Amino acid sequence: MSELLWNPFDPAFRADPYPFYDRLRTEAPVYPVPGGSTVLTRYSDVFATLRSNQVSRDVEANALWDENNPIAVRRRERRRGGAKTILNLDPPDHTRLRRLVSKAFTPSAIERLRPRVEALVDTRLDAAADAGEIELIDGLAFPVPFEVISEMLDMPTDRADELRDWSQALTQGLEPTVTMEELDEAETAIMQLIPYLIEIIEDRRRNLGDDVLSGLIVAEEEGDRLSAEELISFVVLLYVAGHETTVNLIGNGMLALLRNPDQLDLWRHDASLDATAIDELLRFDGPVQHTVRVAMEPMTFEDAAGEPVLVQPGHTVLTVLGAANHDPAMFEDPHRLWLQRPNAGRHTAFSAGIHYCLGASLAKLEATVAITRFLRRFESIELAGDPEFRDRLTIRGVDRMPLTVS
Ligand code: HEM
Repeated sequence: MSELLWNPFDPAFRADPYPFYDRLRTEAPVYPVPGGSTVLTRYSDVFATLRSNQVSRDVEANALWDENNPIAVRRRERRRGGAKTILNLDPPDHTRLRRLVSKAFTPSAIERLRPRVEALVDTRLDAAADAGEIELIDGLAFPVPFEVISEMLDMPTDRADELRDWSQALTQGLEPTVTMEELDEAETAIMQLIPYLIEIIEDRRRNLGDDVLSGLIVAEEEGDRLSAEELISFVVLLYVAGHETTVNLIGNGMLALLRNPDQLDLWRHDASLDATAIDELLRFDGPVQHTVRVAMEPMTFEDAAGEPVLVQPGHTVLTVLGAANHDPAMFEDPHRLWLQRPNAGRHTAFSAGIHYCLGASLAKLEATVAITRFLRRFESIELAGDPEFRDRLTIRGVDRMPLTVS
């Protein structure tokens, strides 16, 4: 089997991973990268693994590490430095921490934010209407989710540019292909972000409100529910999770619609799609392309010929969400954007199982409001240039998308 089946450094793969996923799924759906993870590309394997209780999300504690790989060693040291977040924890810690904020993110709690999200979007669209153009990422896709999460946590927004740089450096540090320099940059970013947040938290202790951050501070002060380090890590996670993901749902989603004008027109004129069409955009080109789990017990999968492939405890599996979402065994004609797809909601763009994205309802609300108001506000929306996907593996999105509107 050729190693080229999975070469994360290939620029063609990064530009458009879907044909590569198809090849993997057909030829080697359970692909053990030499010295690395076993890559899973079938919907059934990805979904079952994410929901399995034979796996851990705590890679640092449970995965076997290559002590000769300086990047792996450095990453491990770095992760040991701070408290883990719910994203990296297993039960019972995961359950304890997730419960602390889950109420603020339920669909009904999020629905109450709708008028505010609409107002934020409209302000941005007014500016686009005046100018006749908009750079979608800077002009709408980034600022709206950033302002919303800042308001939920009651954080100031005056240092948005710095925060965006920090969060990009942080998430770059999580990419599987990270370099030493990028790890340095991620560390510098965290050294700036943490004091910034500590100052806000200390200030909030004296002025508690009804925001999500105040709720976490109360839980911390009550003692055994949340430690001081966990509080900081949690705030970083909530804050950064919203910076690098929803922006790409709005970006990738608008791009998919512009490249499929019949679907764009359909959604523009049919408000009955507002509750569901976003699921098809998440399935079609989701912002998070894969995630990872560690086998805690021997796990068996089937290769293309139906032969068993064993994954031993301590080995990691890469669950490729983007590949699962284009598996023809689950989604008919998977490379077609079809907003009325009856089972689009079964996508794995938000993962599955206990780590299912906490912010899913929020992200869907923000992106749906942004996209529908955009489509209905302007009769003509055109790409001014061909956007290029950022050179990343885990997070998929474009940096710039200039549009003309009228
Ligand atoms: C379109 C936008 C988003 C996408 C595609 C996305 C995707 C994901 C995925 C795939 C995971 C699980 C990773 C795994 O299983 O290992 C996750 C977890 C998480 N997401 Fe999101 N996310 C988005 C937006 C948000 C937003 C807006 C927030 C909050 C403000 C958020 C907060 C979280 C948190 C806290 C977790 C950890 C949940 C847990 O481990 O229990 N996400 N997200």
